[in-house]
Amino acid sequence: MSNTAQSAPLQIAELRHDIEHHEHLYYVLDQPVLTDAQYDKLIHQLQALEAKHPDLVTPDSPTQRVGGKPKDGFSKVAHSRPMLSLDNAYNEAELRAWADRVQSSLHSSDTLQYVCEYKLDGLSLALHYGPAQHGGTRLLYGLTRGDGTTGEDVTSNVRTIKSIPLVISAAKLEQAGLPQTFEVRGECVMPQSAFLKLNEERERAGIAPAANPRNAAAGTIRTVEPSIVAQRRLDFYAYFLLNSAAAGNSAAAAGPDFLLPEQSAALDALKAAGFRANPSTRTVSTIDEVLAFIAEAEPERDKLGYEIDGIVIKVNSTTQQRRLGFTGKAPRWAIAYKFPARGAVTQLLDVLFQVGRTGKLTPVAALAPIPIGGITVARATLHNPDEIARLGVRIGDFVAVERGGDVIPKITEVVEDAAHPRGTQPIVFPSRCPRCRELVVRAEEEIDFRCVNASCPARLSEELLHYASRGVMNIEGLGESMVSQLMGHPLNAPTSLADIESDADAVVNVDPAESKDEQTAAEPTRRALVHTVADLYRLTESDLVALDRVGSKTAQSLLAEIDRSRRAPLYRVLLGLGIRHVGDRTAQDLANTFGSLDSIMTASQEELLKAEGIGPIVASTIHEFFAIAKNRVLVEDLRKCGLQFTAEKKIVGTAFAGLTFVLTGTLPTLTRDEAKQRIESAGGKVSGTVSKKTSYVVAGDEAGSKLEKAQQLNVPVLDEPGLLNLLST
Ligand code: IVH
Repeated sequence: MSNTAQSAPLQIAELRHDIEHHEHLYYVLDQPVLTDAQYDKLIHQLQALEAKHPDLVTPDSPTQRVGGKPKDGFSKVAHSRPMLSLDNAYNEAELRAWADRVQSSLHSSDTLQYVCEYKLDGLSLALHYGPAQHGGTRLLYGLTRGDGTTGEDVTSNVRTIKSIPLVISAAKLEQAGLPQTFEVRGECVMPQSAFLKLNEERERAGIAPAANPRNAAAGTIRTVEPSIVAQRRLDFYAYFLLNSAAAGNSAAAAGPDFLLPEQSAALDALKAAGFRANPSTRTVSTIDEVLAFIAEAEPERDKLGYEIDGIVIKVNSTTQQRRLGFTGKAPRWAIAYKFPARGAVTQLLDVLFQVGRTGKLTPVAALAPIPIGGITVARATLHNPDEIARLGVRIGDFVAVERGGDVIPKITEVVEDAAHPRGTQPIVFPSRCPRCRELVVRAEEEIDFRCVNASCPARLSEELLHYASRGVMNIEGLGESMVSQLMGHPLNAPTSLADIESDADAVVNVDPAESKDEQTAAEPTRRALVHTVADLYRLTESDLVALDRVGSKTAQSLLAEIDRSRRAPLYRVLLGLGIRHVGDRTAQDLANTFGSLDSIMTASQEELLKAEGIGPIVASTIHEFFAIAKNRVLVEDLRKCGLQFTAEKKIVGTAFAGLTFVLTGTLPTLTRDEAKQRIESAGGKVSGTVSKKTSYVVAGDEAGSKLEKAQQLNVPVLDEPGLLNLLST
């Protein structure tokens, strides 16, 4: 092959065509024919040619999947038509009731077909395609769902998802029967393997792991650095084909305007055009057949490699869909059948105790390992002694374990048939701390047991992790492994609960008498660099590079993060002190009312009580905290380190004065913190519990008992657009 300038355009075109073909085989069809090395070679050839002929580089080239980052975050773009959600059915009866409603709304002579599709557990995206050269089409832009009306333009990140075609040739369009302009909607998911890899990386970097693949995918798509998005594998499964040529406000009112007369035909066309669609969809005519599909699909969900949380059933005919229309937020022509949470029965082998920042002992169930939904579960949280009593669970019992969308499973009940087989043991809280061997006490009227030793190493590591966490000092890079090294443990020594658990010799026995001589905590094997949070501010680069696996780049960025935390506002400093009962809200109330740490420290209990939102228990714990000399020494030390001890004057609006809001579920665009801040800066309050005094409950996806409570108490419920509306009026 010659590399003359004349043949370059042709060579480039051929290479691109080949690469697109192989990307489709690999990322969409899962049928690669090239080895990775062969594929890389093609990419390198193309890169080399494009480097020689920069004028021939186009944004659709496979080399351009990772382009520039968006300049000022993501811009907001209106959707062609609203992106709605789906109503749910949780059992056969609800599904049949939906089908009856559908049938009775249509002409009796109509024949009905349903399309069954996997309900992928990720986030929805809207992709807009428009004319490209030679009669083909290309990706113009991609939007998140946002509030359903307006989404965020995440095009630069969408382009990095290799199962999304950047260009589609005229020939393929023709084969698929598609015009040059259309809109595709579908679900962006993170495969389980990519999710596990991401969490391992986060753990190494000292960042809290993502709770589930959905959150990880949503976080990734909103990352402003496309090269990071490209490193994590995201996939896209198309489930809707819309006619963007006909889009407009009137169409929005009338509902989606489909390109093809049937959903099943749309899925076929999308596949033919090179998209990944649900791997298993089925068009059927009766609800019995729908139920059969559901029964077949459920056992498959563990083998897919990505999460599905149910089956979406759609009326196949788009004419019928139009006739059925929409209720407030969901189409009448579709329903999501949700799978029950995945669970299994296994035996409780032992209970381990984790010591938290406040010295609280949290019981963790050690289970006979059992696979649930593709993950081997060996641990479950037991929360506290009350939960153990409620469950009536004993060591040796067989228990039902449930795993929701999240990683940490829970025990839901003791399996009665097998309950209390011979030889089961009661769960006894240890009388000595499993980490430092100091006394463990349970104060009157308190639920929890606590280690009394304020200098317990378990406490210090938790304190440091709390101090560094998001929402407190936000020190990125100060995670478990860094903390344990700063405390003087080499990397391979068991220091976290996870480590202790995995070290068979170090399992914390529940019976203190038996475990007295056991070596449960790792002894520091080198000098501790950090004894209090203030010590963080005295760390130097040479301290850090002496640790295992810390280079000067890591050291410098951690030091920069620590330095940045000196400017954190007063309420975060207060949070960082880790005073019991002082959460985000209380810390802000204290900072707002008293204006400085000195005034809070010297306030009497009565004065504290007078402050907004401070009750007698909180007032007394704050007072007790500052009465302890060691804590006052720490505060003085932090003052010397240059932390913010006075509050910036907060400008608070009055629009929401006197109103109390409760947030529940996941809002489409705002994080909990953002929603809270918006409400508070309008003068409103955010509370954690719904009561008759609650003015509004703001409910997002998967809102639970708080939403039910609101409905019982007739408290008005807002969704995110409703809240934003209220804020803007
Ligand atoms: S159709 C009019 N099909 O589920 C709304 N949605 O709970 C139509 N989802 O926001 C959505 N798989 O993000 C549809 N096969 C599928 C789906 C699916 C997952 C998501 C989607 C939607 C949410 C609603």
